[in-house]
Amino acid sequence: MAAHEFVVVVLAAGKGTRLKSALAKVLHRAGGRPLVEHVVRAAQALHPQGLVVVVGHQADAVRAVVEPLGVQTALQEPQNGTGHAMQMVRRSLDPRAKYALVVPGDAPLIRTETLAGVIRAHTEGRAAATILSADLADPSGYGRIVLRGDNAPAGPRRVAAIVEDKALLPSQRSIPEVNSSSYAFTLEKLWPALERVRPENVHKEIYLTDAIALLDAQGEIVLAEKVPDAQEVLGCNTRAELGEVDRIFRTRKRAELMDAGVTIQLPETVLIDPDVEIGADTVIEPAVQLLGRARIGANCIVRTGSVLTDAVLDDHVEIRPHCVITASHIAAGTIVGPMAHIREHAEIGANARIGNYVEVKKSRIAGGVKAQHLTYIGDASIGARSNIGAGTITCNYDGVKKNATTIGEGVFIGSNSALVAPVTIGDGAYVAAGSTITQDVPPDSLGIARGIQVNKEGWVKARKSKNPPDKKNPARSRRKKTTRKKSRR
Ligand code: UD1
Ligand code: MG
Repeated sequence: MAAHEFVVVVLAAGKGTRLKSALAKVLHRAGGRPLVEHVVRAAQALHPQGLVVVVGHQADAVRAVVEPLGVQTALQEPQNGTGHAMQMVRRSLDPRAKYALVVPGDAPLIRTETLAGVIRAHTEGRAAATILSADLADPSGYGRIVLRGDNAPAGPRRVAAIVEDKALLPSQRSIPEVNSSSYAFTLEKLWPALERVRPENVHKEIYLTDAIALLDAQGEIVLAEKVPDAQEVLGCNTRAELGEVDRIFRTRKRAELMDAGVTIQLPETVLIDPDVEIGADTVIEPAVQLLGRARIGANCIVRTGSVLTDAVLDDHVEIRPHCVITASHIAAGTIVGPMAHIREHAEIGANARIGNYVEVKKSRIAGGVKAQHLTYIGDASIGARSNIGAGTITCNYDGVKKNATTIGEGVFIGSNSALVAPVTIGDGAYVAAGSTITQDVPPDSLGIARGIQVNKEGWVKARKSKNPPDKKNPARSRRKKTTRKKSRR
């Protein structure tokens, strides 16, 4: 079938009652994306003539997820079942389309190749409908495929009906072959059959699955095409299914990365989103999360407990345990952590050292800079090879707006200094430890801004002779206490 002959319909209007959630089912996330987004992407790769997502429950929120992907939506209001959804989408479909590939928005593991296989089987088999089916160890909850009794053993697998779980006869309960809810339909056959479907079921809905028996009874060919990998058809109707589907996505992604030369220790504990990229020979330790569009170079190590979201790491970067890094870039050879927080567009140069309890926000830190302990760097720029002492704080917020701190190259900031922004520390300057710097420090100068120390010699002895031990309360004097203990013996 040529691409211009078929359209795709994604069914995404349902509520998802069994999830017991305020959020529509297809907006729940698995494998790092909303369910419906996975489905749309898999179908888009077929380059169909059109792709329409049927929306209904929380229509605006579903539109907000799918429209940026460049697809159309059609409203189904109220949501009277999967067959009704098809009736509602009819006027949005390109009238030239001969076939529709229908895919449920809640079964996100489906692969593009599998959908292509359904279309192929459909056209080659000259069918009115082709159902993607699967054998499941636990088929409960799914509609079952009832094959025709007269199928030749090696011939096409023709279907007599799909029977929904709640309508199964006792003898049909053990059928392991389920309806995936992905189908190819020949539209000129589907529309008249759908008009004859009645809402005669527990939910009083128009079931798309009821069109199957009608087509077969008319003598049309309805085929079942079994998916090779049954996992692909798993729906997310319950939280348990959602968890299982997420687990499968994560396993797929880790397997891809391991194949590409990435070491992942205790892989089951590592969560990686689908768009994450990692270079060869990088090691990911247990309990790491790599989220969003994180891009990690080659020969890096991301140590245990770290969470990297949209972070970009060049080659040979080491992230020590328990760091949180968000939307920031870290250049080659730099070591971060343990327990550092790098956030919101921080830019850290090569061979820098960002140590424990250091927070960096929206700052440019040049190569070779060291900020090893207990520091906050916000809205700052720090020149090459500067040393930021323990406990340094850029006081970037004046209660109204954020102000910049500019630190030149080769600067030394003594420990526990507060740099009150806006302020500039020139190249090669020193700031004395414990300073509160409110004025610029010129290049190569020492800035010192703290109370002057006074040592009062003999002060302690003088104080003690003025305040001798309390005689009325001997218990407060160490010597007296000892005496009392002795007298007790
Ligand atoms: C459906 C099939 C069942 C199949 C199973 C596979 C029917 C009647 N049953 O059951 O045979 O084994 O999928 O997962 O089709 N939707 C709408 N509008 C509606 C109702 C549903 O767009 O009015 C959408 C839902 O958002 C969902 C999809 O259609 O994405 C399937 O609906 P769901 O309620 O999950 O049907 P199942 O009970 O899973
Ligand atoms: Mg379902």
